[in-house]
Amino acid sequence: MNYFEYRNDQLFAEDVALTELADRVGTPFFVYSARTLRRHFRVFDEAFAGTDHLICYAMKALSNLSILRLFSAMGSGFDIVSVGELQRCLRAGADPRMIVFSGVGKADEEIAAALEAGILMINVESRPEMHRISEVSGRMRRRAPVSLRVNPDLDPGTHPHISTGHRDSKFGVPLAQVREYYAEARGLENLEVVGLSTHIGSQITETGPFSEAALKVKGIVTDLRAVGIALKYLDIGGGLGIPYQENPPPPSEYASAILSPIRGLGLKIISEPGRVLVGNAGVLVTRVRYLKETDVKRFVVVDGAMNDLIRPVLYDAYHAIARVDRRKVGNLIVADVVGPVCESGDFFAREREMPEPAAGDLLAVMSAGAYGFVMSSNYNSRPRAPEILVDGATAHVIRERENFEDLIRGERIVELKAE
Ligand code: LLP
Repeated sequence: MNYFEYRNDQLFAEDVALTELADRVGTPFFVYSARTLRRHFRVFDEAFAGTDHLICYAMKALSNLSILRLFSAMGSGFDIVSVGELQRCLRAGADPRMIVFSGVGKADEEIAAALEAGILMINVESRPEMHRISEVSGRMRRRAPVSLRVNPDLDPGTHPHISTGHRDSKFGVPLAQVREYYAEARGLENLEVVGLSTHIGSQITETGPFSEAALKVKGIVTDLRAVGIALKYLDIGGGLGIPYQENPPPPSEYASAILSPIRGLGLKIISEPGRVLVGNAGVLVTRVRYLKETDVKRFVVVDGAMNDLIRPVLYDAYHAIARVDRRKVGNLIVADVVGPVCESGDFFAREREMPEPAAGDLLAVMSAGAYGFVMSSNYNSRPRAPEILVDGATAHVIRERENFEDLIRGERIVELKAE
């Protein structure tokens, strides 16, 4: 459910016509709907009602300061994976006591910054990292609140690049060694062992893998209790998919799949949703430049490109493509929707059936709120697109379009002899 809807065959973001927005800010651009963000957060939060829980929005999905501010105002905490993300959260006014820090390669400076800020907990991903956190916190004369991230060794049935819970992935501590890790962590006086976390992957569209993971961690928590290690938090990660084309379960079913196996454990549940909160709250609007036909294929060449949205080529991801103005009747064609970047991987859709657009028409690449802008780049010296946040009838520019000076910021020309 989102608030990108047609009114008289014109696509609106809430009460803002995308055609008018395109005239104002140029194309391509990302546009997010605040009403959708609020709704998604509320529905997700309500799915855990009755259970002591904290939602830590996985801000890697979409990390614009205004978006973080809104999540913070809604009562969300944050899942971060770098000091840059920590700084973004703090700049947006987040409460550090609602931040968890995940990721396999944390640097000393990142650990120190997280401890300095006073975050809720650091999720430990390996033995050397556990010792490193202990050293850094010792130097700072603190005790670092940590949780161990368990790799539950299962197949979440998603794209291999975004699957993290199987035994050959770089994430988490192997299931068989978790108990030893806890025993070792308990012996390190600069660590305070507060939790257990897990995250099995992203864009997961069935509940089975989530309940399987929950069952596995339940066993661990119970064993730990038996040897006197009492935890406070159980971090169940993120990963619930959205309907790009698939049909994932609603948050209520997802939550009960996780909560039923672990009911009665008495731990505070931390959840790290990313995509499900923001994915369908954003679209990428792009303008058709040319229609190109070869002997064998048709191409719709648009001004957005893989540097703006890399998901189609990176994960074979499907994104619906909608006409912003569908008043004209177009013949149905089958075409690749491609950008101007010099790679064959630069496409938003392949062999897509669509009403034939004309040069100048606007297209909306749907479900582009998650892992869209944040994964965009300056490849081919393309300035990154602006981000617009619509709230009712108001469209706020929350990030300007980059310009040439932004592209070369930090670069220097050194004069070298040609030979
Ligand atoms: N927690 C941890 C530790 C994570 O690594 C992730 C995502 C999340 C939470 C949030 O997962 P979500 O609820 O968004 O599925 N760029 C890829 C997705 C990468 C996900 C990385 N980790 C894509 O565009 O599909």
